[in-house]
Amino acid sequence: LLNEQESMYIVSEFAKKYFQSTLFESEEGKAIGLTYFKERGFTNETIKEFGLGYSPDKWSAFTDEALGKGYSLEYLEKTGLTIVKEDKKFDRFKGRVMFPITSMSGRILGFGGRILTNDKKAAKYLNSPESDIYHKSKVLYGISHAKQEIAKQDNCFLVEGYTDVIQMYQAGVKNVVASSGTALTPEQIRLINRLTKNITMLFDGDAAGIRASFRGVDLILEAGMNVRVCSLPEGEDPDSFARKHTLEQLQSYFEENATDFIRFKASILMDEAKNDPIKKAELTRDIIASISKIPDNIQREIYVQECSRIMDISEEVLFNSLAQLNRKEI
Ligand code: CTP
Ligand code: MN
Ligand code: MN
Ligand code: MN
Ligand code: MN
Repeated sequence: LLNEQESMYIVSEFAKKYFQSTLFESEEGKAIGLTYFKERGFTNETIKEFGLGYSPDKWSAFTDEALGKGYSLEYLEKTGLTIVKEDKKFDRFKGRVMFPITSMSGRILGFGGRILTNDKKAAKYLNSPESDIYHKSKVLYGISHAKQEIAKQDNCFLVEGYTDVIQMYQAGVKNVVASSGTALTPEQIRLINRLTKNITMLFDGDAAGIRASFRGVDLILEAGMNVRVCSLPEGEDPDSFARKHTLEQLQSYFEENATDFIRFKASILMDEAKNDPIKKAELTRDIIASISKIPDNIQREIYVQECSRIMDISEEVLFNSLAQLNRKEI
């Protein structure tokens, strides 16, 4: 199995180089792929740093090249780079711009490929399938580029997607990774926990993802980590926001707008509950459930005091509810 994984890494590394040289050297790559990245505001330096590439819009250009160079079909198929159907071979990422996904140490584990047309029927992003080397739930996009800066800043920005990471990095906020559109998993949290105890989540201005993120955040609290959240202005995602601002502007925006997660959740829930007592009781249990995940009891106590103030419920009631929850779990 070890040899097998090694072969998969090797063919993935070849693919990355192939997509890269196609982007910078072929007429099609330059005209379509490179133009696309330039229009998004990525510099050559950034494109190279992240190993971005282009996969030709032909049925099997990449596969033919790889087979011609002696790479075996077995590993092309196992990494998902090639799809074999009725004895015909197809490039999975045909006609897409390519984002290599790396491990902490920088090994290529898989790829995300973005479509360039506005075809609403096709998926905007196509990712490598699960394999012996690529487990979607265990990777964080950008981690190998960000790790040093995460440790140095003692904070990790968490964003949604590939282009959010790249644009933030280019703007100078290099301690940034993406969960790639899925809810955060314990394995992903462990990767960050090796580098820092502090996470700052950045949300799009539309706030649609905020509720969905609450579950992932409880996992972070359970790991004893500190979570802050920062909303972006209406209609912005980290990509569009970073593109419009200088590093100094970004830093002061994050400093001024990042709020502690429990405080943030308590205020959002209170807004929702308004004056409905049943809803308020339900949401109070929700926030208490989050607080109960925090391993440190001093920190828990501070949060209870704070929530009491925000939600206008006595500390005693909140402590009782917390104690009840703990009893149930034991
Ligand atoms: N994603 C995915 N498959 C999809 C859609 C999204 O894997 N069909 C993941 C990608 O990692 C993507 C992230 O979810 O980067 C966030 O999705 P979205 O906000 O839709 O894309 P953006 O990253 O904003 O991409 P773009 O700016 O290129 O539209
Ligand atoms: Mn989104
Ligand atoms: Mn997005
Ligand atoms: Mn959005
Ligand atoms: Mn975007």
